[in-house]
Amino acid sequence: MVVSEGKVWAKQRKAFSPGFQFAFLKDLVPTFAGKTQLLINRFAEAADTGKVLHFHTEAVLLTVDVICQVGLSVNFGYLTSKEPPKIFYLFNELLTNTAELARAPHTAWMRFLPWNYLRSRNIQNRFDSILIRVIQHRLTETQQADPLATGPRDILGLAIKTAKDAKAEEGGGALDLEDVLAQVKTFLFAGHDTTASTAAFTVYEISRNPDVEAKVLEEVDRVCGGKPPSPDDLNRGLKYLGCVVKESLRLWPPGGTARIAPPGATLQGYDIGGRPIYLPHLPIHRDPDYWGPDAGEFKPERWLDETYVAKLHPCCYMPFSKGARDCIGQTFALMEVKTLLAMLYMNYTFKYACVEPEAQAYRITSYPKNHVPVTVHRRSRQK
Ligand code: HEM
Repeated sequence: MVVSEGKVWAKQRKAFSPGFQFAFLKDLVPTFAGKTQLLINRFAEAADTGKVLHFHTEAVLLTVDVICQVGLSVNFGYLTSKEPPKIFYLFNELLTNTAELARAPHTAWMRFLPWNYLRSRNIQNRFDSILIRVIQHRLTETQQADPLATGPRDILGLAIKTAKDAKAEEGGGALDLEDVLAQVKTFLFAGHDTTASTAAFTVYEISRNPDVEAKVLEEVDRVCGGKPPSPDDLNRGLKYLGCVVKESLRLWPPGGTARIAPPGATLQGYDIGGRPIYLPHLPIHRDPDYWGPDAGEFKPERWLDETYVAKLHPCCYMPFSKGARDCIGQTFALMEVKTLLAMLYMNYTFKYACVEPEAQAYRITSYPKNHVPVTVHRRSRQK
């Protein structure tokens, strides 16, 4: 979906949209909570020994596990195995390889050098073969015209249904396995990297701001009462935590906006028609002209000031981009991050364990350069 255009994109977006509404996503909250509990268990050893953990690395394990579970209905067991399964390393290799080859447009030809090409193909093939096994297993399980009627209502089910409907419109024929694979891969990648980065930068900011941490702990204890958050807690109850995540996405937006300019478009007199345009979000999100003199400071309270928010430029905050092609997974991501943070802060607090402050590093999306090293500290709930 990310790379498709025109009518093909519109059909895909329409087909996947119902799966990303709150009404559907609320049923995923127990999965988010169950996976977070596994992460809480993983952190126990670090809390007992004082060992430093890289929070970002742990958050990636969680978000990959979640997206595979709700996307494919497969439990790869990332959070329970001592050594993460093979597919985890392939996710990483694939992202790094794609980013390395895409980084410098003037060296794009390098991807066609035989050794680079073969290396990329090899990683792709190993990754695809795991997914193709999952897709084929589902296809043999759900032979019916409507796979959602028989199989689980996950991203794979939606992708198979979309591909079947497209074939039926064309008058029949074999299902396009490549298309299903491409859709599933889009969601697996778009659905984990940015979410892990957001969770990690949020923990980093909370660890540097004791007043924010105190408010988060008070709210989590009061609203959730020691239990995993309900959909209603996520939607309305955890208001301050919502502002904390929003502010973290302002200072550390993991994605940008990429578009192809329409034919004939100009920018300050330059012909940009048909060219790729990339809009980085970070400089807009930190511009004092939009946000005021405290633009660079982490202040979740700014989002509680209705007068201030009402005066903001409509496009000065866009972590999920804007318009028809904005992020389809934004409610999913916010529910997942809030569940994770609420449950973690019920049990632990985190201290940043590095003298160098965090910075953004870039692959395809951005992530914390030091991976947020932290020590983990047990806490008990305030009554
Ligand atoms: C905090 C987490 C996330 C952030 C910051 C984020 C950010 C973005 C941004 C900025 C775009 C627009 C890219 C562009 O215009 O070039 C986008 C698109 C997209 N995102 Fe996300 N995303 C997040 C989580 C997710 C999740 C959890 C999923 C799926 C489960 C997802 C799926 C997608 C898809 C499929 C698109 C393409 C939409 C289209 O072209 O119609 N994202 N995301």
